[in-house]
Amino acid sequence: MTLSDPNDILADAFADLDAGNLSSNTQAKSSSQESKSESRNEFSVRRASLGDSMMLESIDREAFPGMTPVTHIERDLTRQNGLYLAAVRDWQPGEHELGPRFAIATQSEKEDDSFSAKVKRNVYRYLLDYVIRPKLPPDYIAGFVGLWFVLDEAHVVIIGLREIDRRKGIGEQLLISAIEQSVENDSRVVTLEVRESNEPAIKLYRKYGFQEVGFRRRYYSDSGENAVIMTTPPIQSDDYQERFSELVELHADRWGWVSRLGYSRTESPDPTIESDD
Ligand SMILES: CC(C)(COP(=O)(O)OP(=O)(O)OC[C@H]1O[C@@H](n2cnc3c(N)ncnc32)[C@H](O)[C@@H]1OP(=O)(O)O)[C@@H](O)C(=O)NCCC(=O)NCCS
Repeated sequence: MTLSDPNDILADAFADLDAGNLSSNTQAKSSSQESKSESRNEFSVRRASLGDSMMLESIDREAFPGMTPVTHIERDLTRQNGLYLAAVRDWQPGEHELGPRFAIATQSEKEDDSFSAKVKRNVYRYLLDYVIRPKLPPDYIAGFVGLWFVLDEAHVVIIGLREIDRRKGIGEQLLISAIEQSVENDSRVVTLEVRESNEPAIKLYRKYGFQEVGFRRRYYSDSGENAVIMTTPPIQSDDYQERFSELVELHADRWGWVSRLGYSRTESPDPTIESDD
């Protein structure tokens, strides 16, 4: 029995997968670095830095609409025991055209057709963008995951994506990278809280062996909803590592290989270099 698993129920982790999801992958390799996938995903995962904070906050607003942010992104980015990872790709031509504030706005802000929204956008574009130019990240960020390392546990404090970038394997890649970094950090388990109604997220976490180990009643102040506490089995164990590698391999076969912290086949962009755009 452990702090994260008071009821000792983690033995059933990956039970869903045992039931069939991985059965077609009997040839899976033992290491994610050995993936044979030749195709490269257009996204890569890098460490997020302070220059990304405006865009991360915008993604936070989009991923958790109507909620007071639960994390202090800017503070977390400089936290000694924190690590934020961003899923990024090159900016595409035209994405800057309407100014940096528009480029990092949420999808609903971009699509708002009301008169006041149009006026606001023009004020931003023709006035504010010149007076106080917001810092754009060197690349487009689709989503991010935030981790805190506390004692022997890695805690996922936030994971979220822009709406238009969902269902393309990016959230899964961020979780993969979070687990890889937790292994690197010698964490024993990865743990998190999730709304009990958040089926997409719960499905994603279960896929990676997270198990429900408890509840926090009325945890979310906006709706009073309960949080489910989910935890992985020991991530350093051979058993977990084997299953995890299989999943990483399947992900690479399906979505293309993703260059990421500690797993780069080519040079990845230096996150400390910030764009003037
Ligand atoms: C949860 C979230 C990060 C998933 O990211 P994503 O990139 O869309 O998910 P992926 O495409 O990588 O899917 C990976 C797995 O997640 C699960 N999943 C993701 N979206 C799902 C959906 N809409 N319905 C059912 N399962 C879903 C599936 O298990 C999927 O595996 P599969 O493709 O083999 O079925 C994303 O939906 C999001 O940002 N949601 C809003 C913010 C949020 O709720 N964050 C979690 C807070 S705890």
